[in-house]
Amino acid sequence: MANSESLANVGLIGLAVMGKNLALNIADHGFGIAVYNRTGSVTQEFIRENPSTPGKLTGCETLEQFIAAIKQPRVIIILVKAGPAVEAVVDQLLSAGLAKDDIVVDAGNSNWNDTIRREKQYADRLKFFGSGVSGGELGARFGPSLMPGGDPASWKHLQPIWEAIAAKVDPVNGRPIAGAAPGKPVSGGIPCTAYIGPNGAGHYVKMVHNGIEYIDMQLISEAYYLLRHLLGLSPDALADIFHDWNQGKLDSYLIEITADILRQRDPAKPRKYLVDSILDAAGQKGTGKWTAGNALDMGIPANSIAEAVFARCMSAIKDERVAASKKLKGPKAAAVKGAKAMIEAIRQALYCSKICAYAQGFQLMREAQKEYQWKLDFGSIAGMWRGGCIIRAQFLQKITEAYQKDANLVNLLMDPYFRKEILAGQEQWRQVVALAAKNGIPAPAFMSALAYFDSYRAAVLPANLIQAQRDYFGAHTYERVDQPRGKFFHVDWPQADRPQLEV
Ligand code: 6PG
Repeated sequence: MANSESLANVGLIGLAVMGKNLALNIADHGFGIAVYNRTGSVTQEFIRENPSTPGKLTGCETLEQFIAAIKQPRVIIILVKAGPAVEAVVDQLLSAGLAKDDIVVDAGNSNWNDTIRREKQYADRLKFFGSGVSGGELGARFGPSLMPGGDPASWKHLQPIWEAIAAKVDPVNGRPIAGAAPGKPVSGGIPCTAYIGPNGAGHYVKMVHNGIEYIDMQLISEAYYLLRHLLGLSPDALADIFHDWNQGKLDSYLIEITADILRQRDPAKPRKYLVDSILDAAGQKGTGKWTAGNALDMGIPANSIAEAVFARCMSAIKDERVAASKKLKGPKAAAVKGAKAMIEAIRQALYCSKICAYAQGFQLMREAQKEYQWKLDFGSIAGMWRGGCIIRAQFLQKITEAYQKDANLVNLLMDPYFRKEILAGQEQWRQVVALAAKNGIPAPAFMSALAYFDSYRAAVLPANLIQAQRDYFGAHTYERVDQPRGKFFHVDWPQADRPQLEV
């Protein structure tokens, strides 16, 4: 048996791209790491390809060797496909001799309910911990945003590794600190990770991150589409606009890569832009759908997040849309005069819609903490999204500040900064939505965000009529404006002149 000095600080199972990159990131920070992959040749190749890392990489052929190679209590990160594979790996680890105080960290995009269940299921055999990891391949390699959830004692073991490998932001302005390279991690700065809460809290917050990612992407693609159809601009000209927007309040990773994407020529047809060769049918793996489904389950109006999921569903029925386009004629998009003003209006529409989208995501987490008895720190969550993750944006510094000022903020729209911003942009936002409707250009996320804003700020909504209808056909009862909440009434419709009965 190896002496404890030569044992690895941590283990990692699953050497697909994310696993490999996370392992290299961990090793770059000086931690010894044992790695295992189901297909042994992948492990051997990985070790061969990475001979010199500051921390030692130990490739293991069997799970028994793997377990023996890690210091106790063991911290083992698993990066396998979310779903039954997670349990299969944990069960194999148990058969191979994992101890009761060892910690298994599921770093995949697992459903938070599975994480809650698994923590209980394995409670007397090991410590099951869940962590969201965002940032794609490059994030995993040079600094992801990490959203850990599980028991606080396990977090203490994971914390030094997670804080070392996470992306870092500048403590003064909250901007990501760039410059990490193989073997040269960034030092200093605030790590984009912090303990989120027990059991499934980390995976839940990662799911909401992804729901927001969906709506962010949908809004950007609608802005692109409106600019293109209303102003007839080329992808290169559009790339300049997105590049320009990235210098201001919309500064974010997704805007930055959009500019890059729009400039890209098609390698197969160099005279064409690649974006024009890509089929308009979006894929999805399920985290957006989970977010929207959970919003429905909890009764939280996250309509724009749901709209972004439905927009992908609509995009996917390409053949049906092509057939419908021949029969269902709408208005011809008219060329718009005043390109400069229109570009600015679309920027404002994007910005205001984005504020609403984040307001919905945070509202969802506010409800979830009640539902699952968590105590979420929204300032800290916004803070860890400032760097490393897909939705990283300068904007998140403002959200961090909003929740630092008022941890119990009811809705982001009620924060003085965001209130001022959205009130200033609403006129142009309305103009863009009206123009989209008038010209028959689909802009479901812009429209749904505006509907969210107008509904949220409405002291009175037409739900009185819905309640009347429900009472009429099903005696479902209603509350009255002149009576305390919680007192329910019914009348025998249509003879509403008969005395109403309190029920
Ligand atoms: C991230 C991403 C990552 C993944 C998405 C893609 O935070 O790094 O969100 O988790 O790329 O899950 O999701 P879809 O395939 O559903 O778009």
